Amino acid sequence: MTSTPNLRQNFPPNLKFIETPRPVIDETREVLTSLAQSPPRLSPKYFYDSRGSELFEGITELPEYYLTRAEAEIFDRHLDDIAKALGEGDIIIEPGSGNCSKVQPLLERAMPRAFVPIDIAGDFLLEAAANTAMAHPDLAVTAIAADFTQNWAFTENIPQGRRIVFYPGSTLGNFDPAAQRDFIGQLAKVVGTQGGILLGVDLHKDSAVLQRAYDDASGITAEFNRNMLAVVNARTGSNFEPNNWQHQARYNSKMRRIEMELVAQSAQSVTIGTQTLTFAPGAVIRTEHSHKFTLDNIEDLATAGGMVVTHHWLDSQSQFCLALMQTA
Ligand code: AVJ
Repeated sequence: MTSTPNLRQNFPPNLKFIETPRPVIDETREVLTSLAQSPPRLSPKYFYDSRGSELFEGITELPEYYLTRAEAEIFDRHLDDIAKALGEGDIIIEPGSGNCSKVQPLLERAMPRAFVPIDIAGDFLLEAAANTAMAHPDLAVTAIAADFTQNWAFTENIPQGRRIVFYPGSTLGNFDPAAQRDFIGQLAKVVGTQGGILLGVDLHKDSAVLQRAYDDASGITAEFNRNMLAVVNARTGSNFEPNNWQHQARYNSKMRRIEMELVAQSAQSVTIGTQTLTFAPGAVIRTEHSHKFTLDNIEDLATAGGMVVTHHWLDSQSQFCLALMQTA
């Protein structure tokens, strides 16, 4: 663990940092297995090296990518209401907290007792958690470096009280529906009967609006998509040629999901581990599903966790939804 010298001397007294063992994953095998599916797939987790995270930040500022702004607007418009629905003194848990920027309005207005950011990127997490702890001296921050998609064995480190899981950004949309329900079920167990889940999801809408959000005019999303091949190369020693693949994003309105793919522009031969795979011109690799939701969908998800949607808030154009689920 490397931390900045400043942090080592000046570790905020209200910060606890917990590192959990990283599961050992054979990524070469994982990549070969997912590429053997029909259509061939790669996991969206391979988007996010440092370049990919930068590109994603660029995406959130695109005129076409309304999601981030719509969610921020919900907090602007409804913060008093949201804070009231949560109540004071809660434990706010944020899986995939990143730079901890989305939770800031909640920390300021809802006045939780504790904040538990959880992220797989330990160094980045420590820095973001330290900044949050210094900005809120009365807040107990317990940062947990863990892969929360694998297991929640670290739950015992989360303070007791009314636990609220904050899961914004429509990140849930990356899971397929069965996995969404499993994940909500897992979160429901973590928060228990007194707690809740504050979930931000993108809503089903006109295909053209959605497709533009995932195929922007300036080509940043295309770059983000192709960067996945560079990440896979770095992690597995494969030799994908990112520039020979074209970005494609289409809205499957029946499945209510954006399907993002890379399309081979010419015949490709790629060596991964001991295998060499060939792709004909026009062959596709599916890199991401981004599911879109309806209010009925969100109710069904709550049911999967033995909960009900007690509150929901929309932006002024009803593009995005923030829902609070609680045990009935
Ligand atoms: C980070 C998964 C919410 O699905 O909108 C953005 C990722 N992919 N543009 C999304 C993404 C292409 C984003 N999530």
